[in-house]
Amino acid sequence: MKIAVPAETEAGESRVAASPDTVKKFAALGCKVAVQSGAGTGSNISDAEYKEAGAKIENSASATLKSADIVLKVRRPSAGELRNIKKGAMVLAVMNPYGDAAGIKPFASKGVNAFAMELMPRITRAQSMDVLSSQSNLAGYKSVIDAAAQFNRAFPMMMTAAGTVPPARVFVMGAGVAGLQAIATARRLGAIVSATDVRRAAGEQVASLGAKFVMVEAEEDAETAAGYAREMSEDYKIKQAELVADTIRQQDIVICTALIPGRPAPTLVTQEMVETMKLGSVIVDLAVERGGNCPLSKLGKTVTHAGVTIMGQANLAGDLAGNASQLYAKNLFNFLETMIDAESGKLAIDWEDEIIVGTALTRDGAMIHPVLD
Ligand code: NAI
Repeated sequence: MKIAVPAETEAGESRVAASPDTVKKFAALGCKVAVQSGAGTGSNISDAEYKEAGAKIENSASATLKSADIVLKVRRPSAGELRNIKKGAMVLAVMNPYGDAAGIKPFASKGVNAFAMELMPRITRAQSMDVLSSQSNLAGYKSVIDAAAQFNRAFPMMMTAAGTVPPARVFVMGAGVAGLQAIATARRLGAIVSATDVRRAAGEQVASLGAKFVMVEAEEDAETAAGYAREMSEDYKIKQAELVADTIRQQDIVICTALIPGRPAPTLVTQEMVETMKLGSVIVDLAVERGGNCPLSKLGKTVTHAGVTIMGQANLAGDLAGNASQLYAKNLFNFLETMIDAESGKLAIDWEDEIIVGTALTRDGAMIHPVLD
């Protein structure tokens, strides 16, 4: 069975879908792995390392993809790539299917079975396959590092002979995977940290990291059976806006991470709120790719409004490609391993399995996932 790992083609994407470690593991399962030359460059992995791990290095994407049974990618393959993928092959990638059935249709039409890694169910067995967790964790860390680099004051309190430097105040909005890592990172740098979420369960986790949890007092809890947040009522949103407005004007740094699966990111920090913040404050909007938690944030840009810097860099995990690729590659391996029969080395997919049902977008020419309805 041939596994193909082409280089990513999307601008600014420095990650890669396999590591020398996973190549070795696939080889041990009896698979042949083809890696496009230079695919690992952005993650500091050389062709020689892949080769040593047992991969065949190919000079072009078409040679890499030719007759592959399984294609591993970070981003959804482009139309050009899809042309080189054979009928009946499997694709594992972050497919971004929400609201874009038209973009997934060509995979079905071609008879390619595509799996969206970001739809992996949040169940204990699938934790090691959860790309959202592995990547959000790194993005949460990087958001605080970027904010600290942009901020023209220090994070920790410093008592010096010339006077005391006060600690920075950091407010984290959304205490999921990225938010919790942002809290931990900001605490390590010595900031005073507070955080908010719509899921009550987040409160304990925030407190265990030494941060203060602030939340709207309400009957409703946002946690869905899948562990994610749902959209809140208008009444809740009004109460939350009051709470955020009160909190935000005392902050130096705001890290926005709030997301709702399949929906635009909730607006939490309005222009009026930004205008109440101190000069020199910094907002990092990790939700920017889904519209942002702050309407002033601009995808891929750092902008200033009323003396407040708003950073909207996309793909922060990709800025740490060295780690992000290792973890992403391992997520893919852990998932794919469940579909390969260890004895024969052949594909043996249990289409009834929760993790397959949760992630499979297309099968044998049909669009089979509810997000595509
Ligand atoms: P996410 O990336 O979808 O959202 C980030 C955070 O924003 C979430 O905590 C969400 O509750 C919050 N949020 C949404 N709307 C908000 C609003 N209007 N105001 C404030 N906050 C808002 O979520 P993520 O980070 O992927 O994790 C969601 C949950 O799943 C967490 O409890 C996490 O611990 C859990 N999880 C479970 C796993 C497992 O059991 N396998 C694996 C990974 C995460």
